Amino acid sequence: MSAHLILENISKVFGLNVEAGLEALRQGKSKTEMLESSAHVLGVRDINLQIERGELFVIMGLSGSGKSTLVRMINRLIDPSAGRVLVDDVDVTAMSNHELIEVRRRKISMVFQSFALLPHLSIIENVAFGLHIAGVEKKQAMERARQALKLVGISEVADHRPDQLSGGMQQRVGLARAWVTESEIMLMDEAFSALDPLIRTEMQDALLALQQSAKRTIVFISHDLAEAVRIADRIAVMAEGEIRQVGTPTEIIENPADDYVRAFFRDVQFSRLFTAGDIAMPGVTPGAIPGTKSSMLEPVSATDLLEDILPRAAETEESLPVADTQGNIMGFIDRTRLLEVLARGRVK
Ligand SMILES: Nc1ncnc2c1ncn2[C@@H]1O[C@H](COP(=O)(O)OP(=O)(O)O)[C@@H](O)[C@H]1O
Ligand SMILES: [Mg+2]
Repeated sequence: MSAHLILENISKVFGLNVEAGLEALRQGKSKTEMLESSAHVLGVRDINLQIERGELFVIMGLSGSGKSTLVRMINRLIDPSAGRVLVDDVDVTAMSNHELIEVRRRKISMVFQSFALLPHLSIIENVAFGLHIAGVEKKQAMERARQALKLVGISEVADHRPDQLSGGMQQRVGLARAWVTESEIMLMDEAFSALDPLIRTEMQDALLALQQSAKRTIVFISHDLAEAVRIADRIAVMAEGEIRQVGTPTEIIENPADDYVRAFFRDVQFSRLFTAGDIAMPGVTPGAIPGTKSSMLEPVSATDLLEDILPRAAETEESLPVADTQGNIMGFIDRTRLLEVLARGRVK
């Protein structure tokens, strides 16, 4: 079976004479040379990607590297200057406007950084709203909305009004609202970038929980290294409109393709990136019973950074039990697991 989403030799040149721009691109001119010699801006150059069904694929790069241009060509908010986009082997680049509208409605949704909740509707009605519009019957729409709210962890505010919610909770509503449409592909352009770090981590967790519950194909743009490593199945690193490397976080960290990628990843500190809960493995530690508070060893908290549990891990041969926020044992961390994560960032 071929990949869910295929980008084939995609290029984008901004400027008055696209043909001349493409010619400059074919001659191998750099972004700067193109700008100087012909006043064309290179958006992206000859991108080839295959994204699998159910994959959480992160596109990473500095500002101006072409991430938004690339992702917008997937649903043709931007038309490519050259190349093809295939979704389930169907060529999106050849579609009529009418077909495109259908695809955007049913198959490819885009999650924006800011979104407005309807103030006069309850939270659950806000989440169900898009489904009503799409013609889903009321009872079923509400049921799906309820499920989505549960997955993002805010069931208890289903009947509240938006202005009764904190900013972080409103963000979760936005995520639930995007998720509930059940489009197969979700495009998220820096969707969490404006959030403060704590809420941002919570949103990443919520997204991972959603992704666990029902696999969607997600193309997630980020300029934040920690975020990318934390959530990605695979990462594409972009610079100056080109993809420099594609791989799992571990592959890229262990084997950076060039100096640029190496420099980009040099600063990542896994001990401060991941929490005990992120890396806890399900199962039983000696003397600890999952789902209860019973344990011989004092458990570490799921929200502790690895940095903070290192002293504990160093002083015992045994696996450390990990307790969730209610104090129940959710899993354990053994030394091998801990070392593997610290050395190579391997979490998933
Ligand atoms: N509509 C446009 N017209 C001209 N240049 C553009 C346009 N959109 C983006 N660009 C240029 O394309 C390059 C890539 O931009 P963008 O895709 O927004 O990068 P990123 O999302 O990685 O910050 C930048 O040099 C930007 O200035
Ligand atoms: Mg952008």
